[in-house]
Amino acid sequence: MEKNFRLEIADKTRLPESEPERQYYFMDIAREYVSRLAADKGSPLTFHVTTFGCQMNARDSEKLAGILTCIGYVECETEDADFVIYNTCTVRENANNKVYGRLGYLGTLKKKNPRMMIGLCGCMMQEQTVVDKLKESYRFVNLIFGTHNIYKFAELAVTAMENSFSGHPHKGAVGMTIDIWKDTDKIVEDLPVERKYAFKSGVNIMFGCNNFCSYCIVPYVRGRERSREPAEIIREIKRLVADGVVEVMLLGQNVNSYGKNLKEPMTFAQLLEEVEQIEGLERIRFMTSHPKDLSDELIAVMKKSKKICRHLHLPLQSGSSRILKKMNRCYDKEHYLALVDKIRAAIPDIALTTDIIVGFPGETEEDFAETLDVVRRVEYDSAFTFLYSKRTGTPAAAMEEQIPEPEVKERFDRLLAEVQEISAKKARRLTGCTLPVLIEEKNEQDAALVTGRLDNNSVVHLPGTADMIGQICQVYLEECRGFYYIGTPVTDGNGASDKQG
Ligand code: 5AD
Ligand code: SF4
Repeated sequence: MEKNFRLEIADKTRLPESEPERQYYFMDIAREYVSRLAADKGSPLTFHVTTFGCQMNARDSEKLAGILTCIGYVECETEDADFVIYNTCTVRENANNKVYGRLGYLGTLKKKNPRMMIGLCGCMMQEQTVVDKLKESYRFVNLIFGTHNIYKFAELAVTAMENSFSGHPHKGAVGMTIDIWKDTDKIVEDLPVERKYAFKSGVNIMFGCNNFCSYCIVPYVRGRERSREPAEIIREIKRLVADGVVEVMLLGQNVNSYGKNLKEPMTFAQLLEEVEQIEGLERIRFMTSHPKDLSDELIAVMKKSKKICRHLHLPLQSGSSRILKKMNRCYDKEHYLALVDKIRAAIPDIALTTDIIVGFPGETEEDFAETLDVVRRVEYDSAFTFLYSKRTGTPAAAMEEQIPEPEVKERFDRLLAEVQEISAKKARRLTGCTLPVLIEEKNEQDAALVTGRLDNNSVVHLPGTADMIGQICQVYLEECRGFYYIGTPVTDGNGASDKQG
């Protein structure tokens, strides 16, 4: 690369003020820069986005990939790319450590590639201590932005390219472009998205969280709850369906409080009913449901729906009413169990999954026994179990009686053993049934197999070929091996697989 490679910004006098037009304007400029850099390299520039954390981040990464593709970068499988982005998570401390560990490796790659841009975004960047540390010890990072201004990525990328390649670095740390907002009430629609899967997609229905569970950092890094307009959500899903999507996952930190702050309020159940009407859409999933806000109306809508998957993720966090109170979860053990009974009475075949935290401050052996009791009573199809992680700035971090690590680990292992035994038992119950499976990908281990999911989210491997991906096939579940099934497609008289729909 030439030493004095200069990038001059185009005519900024025509800069649109409204969004998303402003970002499309910056995409045009970025495209010009990328084409000059590619000419210098002699081949197209490549990008790689690495996602840490939840489905929200996965969807955000698709938006970043959309913009990078639009400005001329080509996606590649490895981090040995010209633009690498880490979309970070900070929900637990170990998520942060992972990022620092891998950043060191990116630094060595960058020494070999003068064109390389490194961007960091997501929840971790909303923490001042993180940004301070990056400024101090990871100065090779080109761009740092947060959760609230991700829609501005095209504009930020242009600024970062100018700062990195113009030879006139400005704005704070040399070569570093940093833009972090504390909060926003803005939702920008209609930016490009590059989906990971052709046939399924996440769809944000709301952003942020107002619940302030006492252990959780999310409300501080994702800001206050904002719902998207239902018309925008429906429009997006219709477009996705026209583009081949058959399954959507409606995303929000607490989907059950969807719509409360809209100009014309509507409930999540009402939104689901509208989504159900979309022709060509086969499956609807959603995540996450807070037990305190799960309504009878939602249960009724799920019961009568032909498209909403028979799966509910209902985070428990703890089975002890005393700990739930300290967690600020706004329900107790009895309320949770009664809710599960109500859901199962209405939809007997529903799969229930959950999140559980072990070792919250002050958790006694008796409290933990209450958690085990709920796990045994509910018999979750699967459960994500977490060691409590102290997040600075949350009320729980300041609580006395933080539990020593060995004790927490010992409880965690007991819980995990219980959860796994129950999951294996639950999984076996569908052996011998023939059920619709959405084929998602080629099997990684065995080229003769494809892998898909049942409506209840269980994984099924079956003989098949890549052309089946995105189709819903009837599959005979021959054998259950722990947490997944081996199945065979049920074919009709013509040898074609019987499709749902
Ligand atoms: N420590 C451990 N687990 C946590 N979670 C959220 N905050 C913490 C924390 N401080 C878990 C909760 C939540 C899931 C996404 O992450 O179980 O439901
Ligand atoms: Fe965190 Fe609670 Fe909000 Fe979930 S509902 S994101 S656990 S504060």
